[in-house]
Amino acid sequence: MARSFAHRLDGLPAPATIEMARRARALRAEGRPVISLALGEPDFPTPPAVVEAAHAAALAGQTKYPPVDGTPALKAAIARKFTRENGLDYAPDEIMASNGGKQVIFNAFMATLNPGDEVVVPAPYWVSYPLIARMFGGVPVVVPCREEEGFKLDPAALAAALTPKSRWLVLNFPNNPTGAVMTAEELEPIAEIVRRYPDLWVLSDEIYEHLVFDGVRSASLAAVAPDLKDRIVTLNGVSKAYAMTGWRVGFAGGPKDLIAAMRGVQGNATSGICTIAQAAAAAALDGPADLVKEMAATYGRRRQMVVDALRRIPGLTCAMPEGAFYAYPGVAGCLGRTTAGGTRLETDHDFALAFLDEAMWPRCPAARSGSLRICVSPAPRAMQI
Ligand SMILES: Cc1ncc(COP(=O)(O)O)c(C=O)c1O
Repeated sequence: MARSFAHRLDGLPAPATIEMARRARALRAEGRPVISLALGEPDFPTPPAVVEAAHAAALAGQTKYPPVDGTPALKAAIARKFTRENGLDYAPDEIMASNGGKQVIFNAFMATLNPGDEVVVPAPYWVSYPLIARMFGGVPVVVPCREEEGFKLDPAALAAALTPKSRWLVLNFPNNPTGAVMTAEELEPIAEIVRRYPDLWVLSDEIYEHLVFDGVRSASLAAVAPDLKDRIVTLNGVSKAYAMTGWRVGFAGGPKDLIAAMRGVQGNATSGICTIAQAAAAAALDGPADLVKEMAATYGRRRQMVVDALRRIPGLTCAMPEGAFYAYPGVAGCLGRTTAGGTRLETDHDFALAFLDEAMWPRCPAARSGSLRICVSPAPRAMQI
């Protein structure tokens, strides 16, 4: 008998990235040498000094229920980080720590969205924004950003998407998945449009801020437009910059009333986050910046290699990412074709799944030699590996 679940889950798919990671794991369990790039996960270990700080905190008895919004020590480290790196001053009651940046978004949307409220999300986007919005009755409104414009948000396109029902604008630069970065100058016209909508909140997800290349500088919207600071949630976390995805520490700076509402949500969900992870996150934020710079330099070298390789594949295009650790190839040139394994490629989703399922095709010489390679032959218009 089919059971029924809450209406808020109706039609809500699992994030595509989670599904892709699940399939990759299943194939790996069958012994296939799949390298999964589905989740945004640094391959570096967490810096040893950070692990030691966690160890010391556990031994020192920091193992009791913490305050819902974060330990005073972590909140102080977050405040220092915002001042030092973003030029933003947040008081302790304007800061909170959550189980990853993801819970910040969950808290903020749950605290503010009513059914029918619109959440404007520039695309391509990290899959979780529209899905979390939909859980609370929000209606995602997607604003396409074009590859030819470096996937930056076009102010005119944003202006056309906003309506009196718009409740949130989500900005994520450096961007997952395109790597696009918006500089202070590029954010100014965006701020100008936000000023026209006094009921609009802005989520500025800056979790990849340290991972930028070629001297490009990513900016914080609240620093670019201080007059809008009381409508902006500045989201950040330690997952990406400090290779700490499993520690689950994200944080936000924002206006006191919204942070209080978000604290209320979290207090009824998970309460304060793991004390030991909080000590580790404080050590990471206060620690030396060199390690982050070294990791960013390594991502920069890999970026060049991956983009060069992708561009050599007939049928694919790939813009050079300015930040984050993703490459975002365009597969438009492969759509409408049929793979060697007989899969017709109608969408980029079909492409990704076919790549996963067929790149290890047993009859394929590349698979036998262990190299992961995909090419699209011009005739008979089939994708082979
Ligand atoms: C753009 C963006 N924001 C936020 C997050 C959340 O990260 P976490 O919950 O690990 O802090 C991710 C994770 O992939 C992300 O890509």
